[in-house]
Amino acid sequence: MPSEAAIGIFDSGIGGLSVLKHIRTQLPNENLLYVSDRAHLPYGEKDKQYILQRSRVITQFLISKNVKAVVIACNTATAAAVKELRESYQLPIIGMEPGVKPAILRSRSGMVGVLATHGTLNRHKFKTLLQDHADGSEVIICPCDGWVEAIEQNGHDHQTTRQIVSQQLQPILERGVDTLVLGCTHYPFVKKMIADEAGPDISIIDTGPAVAKQLQRQLSAHNLLSEATTPGSEAFWCSAPPRQTQKRIESLLQVPVRLQLLPEPK
Ligand code: DGL
Repeated sequence: MPSEAAIGIFDSGIGGLSVLKHIRTQLPNENLLYVSDRAHLPYGEKDKQYILQRSRVITQFLISKNVKAVVIACNTATAAAVKELRESYQLPIIGMEPGVKPAILRSRSGMVGVLATHGTLNRHKFKTLLQDHADGSEVIICPCDGWVEAIEQNGHDHQTTRQIVSQQLQPILERGVDTLVLGCTHYPFVKKMIADEAGPDISIIDTGPAVAKQLQRQLSAHNLLSEATTPGSEAFWCSAPPRQTQKRIESLLQVPVRLQLLPEPK
C-alpha cells in the first residue's frame, strides 16, 4: 500500500467532519476521502446489524478507492462495528469512543456527564468502558434525543437546535456534573451552545484531537505516513442526494466542496 494513498473517513452524516478537521490539522499533507451516510441516519436509533451492514458497505467503497486506513468518525458505528471490521479487513481501522477516561481524570467533583446517542450508550462496548474507568466517580448518561437530526436539518447555529440542546442538558447539569463528554461526533458543532448552557466552570471533552493523534501513530507504525510536502486534498461522498449536505459541509469547513453520490452495491 503506497503511503500516498488517501485516508478514508466515515460517519452517519456531517458529524465526522468535526474529526476530519483535527485530522487535517494534525496531518496537513494527507489526502482525505469522506463519506456521509445521510440516507441512513440516525445510526443512534438503528440496531447493530444495520449499522454493521452500512459500515461494511462504506468500508468496501473506501477500499475500492485504495485508502490506506479507515477512520470510523462515529462513536455509534465504532461501538457497533469496529471489532467486526478489524476482523474482516487488513488495513488500520481507527475507531472512537466517548472520552470517559480523560473526563474522570479531569473532574474535581467526580461527577461526569456523557452526551451520546442511544446506540452508543446501550452497547456492550460502552458498558465495559464504564466498568473499567468509572471507579469511584458518578457517570450520568444523557441519550441526546434528536440532536443529530436537528444538527443535520437546521445546522449547528439554529434556534430549534439550541432549544433541543438546552432542554436536554438541564437535568444533567442539575445533577452537578463538572465535566461533560461529547460522545458523538456531531456534538462538537454545538459545543458553544453547550458551553453557553453549562457555564464557564464546566469542562467539555472532545475526543477528535486524540483520534487524529491515534491515526498518526497508526500510520507511522505501518510506515504509511505521506511524504508529500504540499497540502493534501479532500473528496466527499454522500448516500443521500448531495445538495443539502453540500451546503452544510461548505458552511462547516468554510470552503467550496464537490459532493458525489455514494454508489450502492448491486
Ligand atoms: N455522529 C455519530 C456518533 O458519533 C452518530 C450520529 C447518528 O446517530 O447517526 O455517534
